[in-house]
Amino acid sequence: MRARVFPDYEAMSEAAAALVVLRLREKPSTVFMLPTGTTPLGMYRRLVEMYRAGQVSFAGATFFNLDEYLGLVPDHPASYHVYMKEHFYGLIDADPARTFVPDGSAPDPAAECERYEAAMREAGGIEVCVLGIGRNGHIGFNEPGASFLSRTRVVRLSESTRNVNAADFEENRAPQRALTVGMATIFESREVLLLASGTNKARTVAASVEGEISESVPASMLKGHPNAELFLDEDAASDLGSGVAG
Ligand code: PGA
Repeated sequence: MRARVFPDYEAMSEAAAALVVLRLREKPSTVFMLPTGTTPLGMYRRLVEMYRAGQVSFAGATFFNLDEYLGLVPDHPASYHVYMKEHFYGLIDADPARTFVPDGSAPDPAAECERYEAAMREAGGIEVCVLGIGRNGHIGFNEPGASFLSRTRVVRLSESTRNVNAADFEENRAPQRALTVGMATIFESREVLLLASGTNKARTVAASVEGEISESVPASMLKGHPNAELFLDEDAASDLGSGVAG
């Protein structure tokens, strides 16, 4: 896993957007996996700007999101459906027929996970997977201990994740469970780009990059991936040893 360190969040976001646009220019029908959270907001902002400037079209691409809270209807303000609509899909020319977010309100969540996994397979698999990383090293909602063999499934969120995300919910109570694309599915992506920003990610970034590959640090799985890159700002890179190229 190569790490690239950028001077600040804006530079990291700009580079992430540039990579997405490059892949689209190479292949307009690229199949992407996309994250939510605060980290990718700068990348989405930049992509929307480029779209508005007529520099890129997303109309031929396919998008899958990584995860969704279990029990939230798609128009719940804290749902990732709404997040994606407000920050990206609703602002660009993405084709709604090729834009997928797991349905947290599906009557049979296990069947919804199977359907989602099958949709990714039918699309030919993920070509470019963009990820954030949780303070505990999670990717998607694959919390520490998630099997590297896991597929899209219902998971229980860790207390730390629920606390970090609590502010999005009434009475500060985040849902206890979520649907997430699995570790094996992420690993099978042809290319992975993990984004991390801020000092509160520095420890988990260092553990992921410099520690053992272990299910207790989900992002460490990417060390075994043939084509994974980590884009960091200087704060997120601040616990790394000197072996990382700038
Ligand atoms: P964040 O979340 O970008 O809001 O820090 C990342 C994650 O939990 O994957």
